[in-house]
Amino acid sequence: MPVSVHSPDPGTRPEGVDAVDAPRHVRDMFNAVAHRYDRANHLLSLSTDMYWRRVTARRIARELPPSADLLDICCGTGDLSFALASRLRPSQRVWSADFSHAMLLEAGKKSGSRPAPRGWLEADALRLPFPAARFDAVATSYGFRNLGDYGAGLREFARILRPGGRLYILEFFRPAVPVFAGIYEWYFSRILPRLGHWLTGRLAPYQYLPRSVAHFATPAELAGWMRAAGFERVEWRRLTGGICALHTGIARR
Ligand SMILES: C[S@@+](CC[C@H](N)C(=O)[O-])C[C@H]1O[C@@H](n2cnc3c(N)ncnc32)[C@H](O)[C@@H]1O
Repeated sequence: MPVSVHSPDPGTRPEGVDAVDAPRHVRDMFNAVAHRYDRANHLLSLSTDMYWRRVTARRIARELPPSADLLDICCGTGDLSFALASRLRPSQRVWSADFSHAMLLEAGKKSGSRPAPRGWLEADALRLPFPAARFDAVATSYGFRNLGDYGAGLREFARILRPGGRLYILEFFRPAVPVFAGIYEWYFSRILPRLGHWLTGRLAPYQYLPRSVAHFATPAELAGWMRAAGFERVEWRRLTGGICALHTGIARR
């Protein structure tokens, strides 16, 4: 059956914010919670977020060529970047970018003595300051859903990937199993905003999180958008009852 690539809402739209203001609103929101982001994330997801990033990093480590450059885009406080840096060889270089200055500062504080990315860069995923075909792989965890324009983001990832390069998108989705979906929906929309508020002192980002997932694509729709943007052999793997999925695709040769 053909997969629809139509979306009435092809980018994130925080409540009461239009398409033009959405990116600035998202950046301000992450700047505001950056200092508490990790703690809230791990508690709210019972640390399963770390597990899903490890699954992603292991898969990338298996598939990346021996000498390669990878961009972790929307890297936030860098947990996927660190998971990758500790698994890749010295000839496989991780670069990390995000448009939130405060999230990058938190990432920098965590570097210490553990393996870290080659560089942190403040940049917008929709207008990346890299030449075409610069990277062998692009990865993003929980960032893609927050882009103001999903099609533009995917085309930008396709542009900076060399032909044959790989894209990895780890993202939240609405679970497919009905009973589980009901419990999850109750936790996500009723409990999580209160817990997030309590942990960070901010309510709006934790009201935004369940809404952004509710308005986001299904895994099949995201796969359709990836194909439309020039990716081949698009696949996805559901994780933990479909709360998350890891999409992969290869930039057209
Ligand atoms: C939910 S956090 C995920 C951070 C990290 N990847 C992780 O796994 O925890 C989403 C991140 O996407 C970033 N982001 C959203 N839109 C962006 C854009 N257009 N360009 C760059 N970063 C963006 C935000 O600043 C934020 O740090």
